Amino acid sequence: MKKILFLSAVLTFASCKKEEKTTIDNSQIATEEAAPAATPEELGKSIFEGKGNCVSCHQVDQKVIGPSIQEIAKTYKSKNADIVTFLKGNADPIVDPSQYDVMKTNLAVTKEMSDEELLAIQTYIYSHLK
Ligand code: HEC
Repeated sequence: MKKILFLSAVLTFASCKKEEKTTIDNSQIATEEAAPAATPEELGKSIFEGKGNCVSCHQVDQKVIGPSIQEIAKTYKSKNADIVTFLKGNADPIVDPSQYDVMKTNLAVTKEMSDEELLAIQTYIYSHLK
């Protein structure tokens, strides 16, 4: 009899432990699943540094081939202009028009992007406003 009691105690303990572990696993899965739902700023950053490859010409705070992200943000804010309209090819350049030809080839890429992606890029650029 004692043996049975002991056994069931062990079993209960073991099953508790198992349940606890399952809960932890579930919460980890939940966090991983939540990750892709990024904010517009995060999405913009990932396009800017990923498939858009904008980062090869636009650094955050210094001019390389193109003006810095900070400079673009500052110019667009001060002139109350619209980055999305420019990236759709529907507005003239206002940051460094003399270098527009270098940027122009990228508009073929940005024109194909969805409004959501372009807005995300704009949000990312404005996140660098000082
Ligand atoms: C090959 C280099 C290069 C790449 C890649 C590039 N740019 Fe540019 N970009 C430039 C240059 C040079 C200028 C300055 C000319 C100008 O102002 O249009 C510029 C200007 C801009 C401007 C300011 C336009 C204005 O009003 O004057 C924005 C906004 C911009 N780029 C966004 C982007 C985004 C978003 C990407 C990625 C999809 C990108 N660029 C990729 C070179 C590049």
